[in-house]
Amino acid sequence: MSAVPDITLNDGYTIPQLGFGVFQIEPADTAEAVREAIEIGYRHIDTAEMYGNEKEVGEGIRGSGIDRGDVYVTSKLNNGLHEPDDARRAFDTTLSDLGFDYVDLFLIHWPLPTLYDGDFVSTWKTLEEFQGDGRARSVGVSNFQVEHLERLARETDTVPAVNQIEVHPYFTNEAVREYGRDHGIATEAWSPIAQGEVLDDTTITRIADNIGKTPAQVVLRWHIQRGDIVFPKSVTPSRMRENFELFDFELDPGDMEDISALDQGGSGRTGPNPDTFAHVPG
Ligand SMILES: NC(=O)c1ccc[n+]([C@@H]2O[C@H](COP(=O)([O-])OP(=O)(O)OC[C@H]3O[C@@H](n4cnc5c(N)ncnc54)[C@H](OP(=O)(O)O)[C@@H]3O)[C@@H](O)[C@H]2O)c1
Repeated sequence: MSAVPDITLNDGYTIPQLGFGVFQIEPADTAEAVREAIEIGYRHIDTAEMYGNEKEVGEGIRGSGIDRGDVYVTSKLNNGLHEPDDARRAFDTTLSDLGFDYVDLFLIHWPLPTLYDGDFVSTWKTLEEFQGDGRARSVGVSNFQVEHLERLARETDTVPAVNQIEVHPYFTNEAVREYGRDHGIATEAWSPIAQGEVLDDTTITRIADNIGKTPAQVVLRWHIQRGDIVFPKSVTPSRMRENFELFDFELDPGDMEDISALDQGGSGRTGPNPDTFAHVPG
């Protein structure tokens, strides 16, 4: 079995560097997918209120037979619920849907700078309460840009433990990663294989052929060697297994550079731009 390294966060807790993401897994398929992931060896599950499958994540973890304490669980506050009282109720619902009395990590899913009068600061202070009462061991943010992080640093006392942002070879998101590195905020790379879009790239397939690994393994290994936390999503057991086998090989510095050079800047994004994203699920 592959040994997944732990990353130590700025609050002293540790997080497995490789996990399993459940975005776009149908609720009806989620418990089985989570059980399968745990069977393969994953010990870190990334969900969100927005994904609509927290209940089934809890069921999958309980059905796996391993202790709750042996799995790292992240969830995220939904976009319509940033007002402090809404956030408090939403967090209660997250815990009751998961069926747990704490989460390892709770995030503000999107900064929504064009909504709520641009006030993500009071939302952040509400997450500080959840950490204060022990129901969220760590708190962090997602999709925060440098200016959003700078504002939290100016106006609040807690540095986010993580910032979960889009990162993959076509969008390496260096400025936000660098801010994190300089300020003790771990980067979590979402859509690490760009939902499959980078897997046919000839640079990636050339490296994969040379070293006898798959394109997905090459890209995920690139993230691991850059020090980011990743949680690829798959409902396909053979891919779930493939994505977990990242610790018996290394990319050499030249291959690392060639992959990083695929960056297309902002036009390489597969997801929305956090500066303008304002979707509130109905
Ligand atoms: N914070 C945020 O705003 C945010 C946004 C997006 C994602 N996320 C998190 O990041 C996680 C991962 O991102 P993602 O789900 O968007 O995309 P991803 O992990 O980059 O890609 C998932 C897609 O790639 C396919 N795939 C997985 N492994 C593969 C392999 N070895 N070979 C070929 N294809 C493979 C999957 O297909 P099958 O499932 O059909 O096998 C699925 O279509 C999410 O699940 C979620 O937890 C967070």
